[in-house]
Formats: sequence, C-alpha cells, structure tokens
Amino acid sequence: MQIIKLNATDSTNLYLKDLMNSNSLEDYTIVVAEKQTLGRGQMGTKWESKPFKNLTFSILKQIDSGEVIHPFVLNICVSLAVYTVLSRLQLPDLKVKWPNDILSGNFKICGILIENIFSGNRMLASVIGIGLNVNQTTFNGLPNVSSLKSLTGKTFNLDQLLVEFQSVLKKIFLELDVKGAFEMQKKYENVLFRKNKPSTFKDNDGNLFMGFIKGVSNKGLLVVTLEDDIIKEFDLKEISLLY
Ligand code: BTN
Repeated sequence: MQIIKLNATDSTNLYLKDLMNSNSLEDYTIVVAEKQTLGRGQMGTKWESKPFKNLTFSILKQIDSGEVIHPFVLNICVSLAVYTVLSRLQLPDLKVKWPNDILSGNFKICGILIENIFSGNRMLASVIGIGLNVNQTTFNGLPNVSSLKSLTGKTFNLDQLLVEFQSVLKKIFLELDVKGAFEMQKKYENVLFRKNKPSTFKDNDGNLFMGFIKGVSNKGLLVVTLEDDIIKEFDLKEISLLY
C-alpha cells in the first residue's frame, strides 16, 4: 500500500483530494506531511500540530460501486482502527468520544476529519484525515489535549505507527464486510466515552442538562437518557458534552 511523504503542505486532506482528481490511486493510499500550514479540524476549526513531532496524514478509502455504506459506519470503522492501534500502547483509559475524538482519560490525543466524495447520491470515496499527537509534549492553552509521549513517557516511531494504522484500517473494513455494520456499531459503543455515566451536556442556547449516554443510532446520532427516563437523540450541532 502506497505512502506519499511530504515535507509540507497546506492540508493532507486537500492534497489527497487534489491528487485523486488527476491520478488513479490505490485504496488505502496515505499522504503524510511533517508540517501542515492549513491543518483543518472538525466544524471549521484549525488543527495545530508541531512539525516533525506528530502524525498528520490522510488515507483514501474507495467505495466500490454497488457498495452502500453510511457515512457514520465509516466513522465507526476509522475510530475503531485508531482505537485498536492505540490500545496496544498502554495508554490509560482509552475511549472514543462521540463522534470520533480519541481520548486517554480526559485528554484528547487524536482528531479525525472525514470528507466524503459523492457523485450525485453515490459515495465514491472517503478522505480520512487523522491528527495524532505523538511526541509533542507541550500544548499551550489546551488543558484537555495530550500526546502519546506525555501519557506514557515513551518516544514513538512515527513511520511504524503509520504503517500499523494503514494495515489495521484495512483489516477493520474487511471485518465490516464479514460482520456487518450492526456488529461494528456494538464494538464502537463498547468503547464510547462516558457511556452509562452521569454526564453534563450543553445545548445550543447554553443550557446545561444531565443525561446518560446510552449509545448511538444507526444514523450516528448520540442516544442519551434524560430525566424521567426520556430517551433523546442528538446531532453533533445540537449539544456538547462537558468533561
Ligand atoms: C478534529 O478537529 O478533531 C479533527 C482534526 C483532524 C486533523 C487532521 S491532520 C491530517 C488531516 N489534514 C487536515 O487538514 N486535517 C486532518
């Protein structure tokens, strides 16, 4: 499987999307950059990462014609792949915070930005962007952010982690073919941050409320039990979990 290494680019997601327009690329092709000048995060945020210290990369997942895959199932598979690779590194209390932040304890160590490419209604491919904090040890003004090195005291080989992720992601998609989306969803729910724990949420009007995360719906909404056992489903834009 191909890995394209760059010294610098604006964003590996943008680079990979451009490259796809002019080249036919193997499935699971990776573009990795030591430095991004315009690293992008979820919901229009910026992704900051110290050059040469971390992994910032994008991986291509082609969707075969005839294959129907819900974008949230993609999200589940990618989250599980990152989780699987990191679970081998003895990080304390590793979890997936819905929809796809990877946390160790209360610290975010990895962010995922998935951009799907459609032709009409059909999903052709997905560009999966991953920012994993590896050997960076200072995160100014970001108290809830950490890295593999800060949490374990060890320095990690970036190339090794990258190759491992590529092969684990491939295995997870093969597992999806065999077991189906429901099984993968159950696996995802098993590693969900704050599942079944009393948690505080904030809605769009700034109101705080209590609830218990129960899981996710087929469409990827967060299922929360509120007071009086009322079950409600929330979209990412509707609530944030305070932790
Ligand atoms: C998040 O906000 O949590 C998602 C962060 C995703 C960052 C990665 S770094 C590699 C890829 N290229 C980008 O511009 N963003 C993603």
